[in-house]
Order: sequence, then structure tokens, then C-alpha cells
Amino acid sequence: MAERVLILGGGLMGLAIAHQLARRGRAVQVLSRRRSEAAGFVAAGMLAPHAEGLAGDLLRLGQAGLERVPAWVAAVEGDSGLGCGLRQCGIVVPFASAAERDGFATGPYGQPLDRAGLERELPGIGPRWQAGWLFPQDGQIDNRRRLMRALERACVALGVHFQEGTEVEGLERDGSGSLRAVRLRTAEGERRTLEATQAVLACGAWSARLLPELPVFPVKGQMLSLQAPRGALSRVIFGPGTYLVPRQDGLVVVGATSEPEAGFCEGLTPAGQRQLQSGIEALLPEAAGWPPMERWWGFRPCTPDEGPLLGASPIPGLWLATGHHRNGVLLAAITAELVAGVIGGTLAQEEQDLVEAFRWNRDATRTPTHREPA
Ligand code: GLY
Repeated sequence: MAERVLILGGGLMGLAIAHQLARRGRAVQVLSRRRSEAAGFVAAGMLAPHAEGLAGDLLRLGQAGLERVPAWVAAVEGDSGLGCGLRQCGIVVPFASAAERDGFATGPYGQPLDRAGLERELPGIGPRWQAGWLFPQDGQIDNRRRLMRALERACVALGVHFQEGTEVEGLERDGSGSLRAVRLRTAEGERRTLEATQAVLACGAWSARLLPELPVFPVKGQMLSLQAPRGALSRVIFGPGTYLVPRQDGLVVVGATSEPEAGFCEGLTPAGQRQLQSGIEALLPEAAGWPPMERWWGFRPCTPDEGPLLGASPIPGLWLATGHHRNGVLLAAITAELVAGVIGGTLAQEEQDLVEAFRWNRDATRTPTHREPA
């Protein structure tokens, strides 16, 4: 029988990979330190390879990810009996001028909008925006309230074993340098060694604490939600530094600051919340009057070129699924498929090439993608 796989990290990647492996008949154990800090509970849940303006291999991965989402969500919903809130609602990216719009990297995948088109797609959009792209194929999942819970339930239904409150403190290698065991500290403070020769490192922004060679660092994001009248907004609006993501029931998730200088410094800041408030006012003035419901923050796992680290690690037997930065929800399905395929040795050549493009020690040249605040 195939050996049990340990998943280090109970966030979105850890759960998605655990689910995929369990579906393939593998025994899986998930070690999770504190599930509430996972970026999967923080993100807005956008599926936005085009609205994010991704390029190169990251666009290729993002498009492959987007394509897999409907079947993946159907599997999670089928295994869990819970809905995930997938909406292919389209995303509008507005610009101050047609010239700015025409320079946007993923424009060829979208439909151009003039001011009248913007007003049609987003009634009440702020006067500053004169042009835009509509990406009808982009969308969202209700990650915080639905997807994470559904994935956990699906994993449990398939026999995945969870150990919450367990911090992995170190990795042990055998004489040949391969993974032999992990050292952990339980919720009760007990220190133990757990033998494992197959494990997936999916510790998000904290990944380099376990394996310092990994070029992963935190980029803090602050968020809030608003209660809009139901149906007030039918598409996501993705502006510079601020986006509004309308859930089916009228809740609007607003993101997000991007604060690499904050490190792991927790908490909301007045400057961060002011940035979001002025972004809301500029994008959709009436939304500035919708009542705020919740405010939160989290840490994106970023890498120098903003692409994830997938597949083999410097330690044979330890696999990587981290560094998804702004695109974790979008990339969860494809990451689970690729990493489970690498572990099982079942990847087709094209998929192997994709994993190779995101190896941990690639040459990292950043192509700026997402739009910073104006
Ligand atoms: N996915 C958008 C963000 O990370 O803010």
C-alpha cells in the first residue's frame, strides 16, 4: 500500500492537496498550527488570472487553474454535501483613459468598455473611470464562509486525519539527505517526532521558517466587508489598490492593502483602512455608505517573481505547494492536481513542464502584475 502523506499546513493548499490525494486512495494526515490564520480564510476569493494582469508562465498556470475550477468545486461539493459559492460573475477592470486600458497585459482576453459600457456593467461607477476591460470568464468563490468549510468536510468524509494546534518545528533527514521525520509540538505543548518520508510543505507565508532556503516572505493585506442591498453589484470591480467582490447574498468583500514592509506585524492600521475607504469611494461612491460588517488582515505568501513554488524541494520526499501570493484561490485546484500528480508520478509531459516552470530554485525575475493604488 502507498505510504501515508503528511501535509504540513491546514490552509487552502494543504486541504486541496489532502482532498486530491485522498480521492486517489492515499492515506493523508494534515498538521495545522492555527487554521484561522490561513490565507484561505483571508482572501476575497477572486478567480482572476485576467483581471490580475498575469503574464508568462503565471498566466498559463492561472488560466489552467481557472479551467479546472468548475470540476474541482463539483468534486468538493459532491464529497462534502456543501456548496462553495462559485460564481462566474465576470470582473471589470476600470481605467482613467482608453490609453491606459489598452496597455493592460491581459487585454486581449477581455472585452473593451467605454464609459457607457462601464455604466452598463457597473451602475454608479465613479466619474474618474472612462474605460475598462470586462473579463467575463473571471469570477469568485466564497472562500471564507463556504469553500474552506466544504474542503474540510470533504477531506474528513474521505478519511483524512487532522491534527489542529500542532506546530511543525523542524524537518529531519536520513543519511542520504531525504526526509525521515518531522519534529512537532502539539497543542498541549508536548514535543514529538513523527516519522514521514513523504510530506507536502504548504505553510503559506510561514514556509521559510521550516525551510529557510525557500524565497517566501509575507505581504500583509487588510480587508473589510460591507453589507450592500442584495443585487446592488453584479460584477467584481477590480481597481488599483482596491477591489469589491459581491457575494450572492449582498455581502461585498473589499480588498486589499499590499504591505511587504509590515512583515508579520498583525492588526489593522488606520492608514490601511483609509486606503480601502478612499478606494471604495473612487470606485463606487454609493458603496461608501454601505455599513461595514467585518475587518480583518492576513499574510500572502509571496516570492520574488510572485509565482508559487511547486513540486520537488531541496529535500527528497518533501514536496512544495507554497508562495501563491495573490492567487491562492485561483491556483488551489491546479496546485492540488499537479502536486498529487508529482507525488503519484502520474503527470503528463505538459503538466511536468508546468511544475518545472515553478520549481523552487528558478531564476526569479518579477514582471509587475497587479495594479497598485494610484
Ligand atoms: N487576490 C488579491 C489579493 O491578494 O489582494
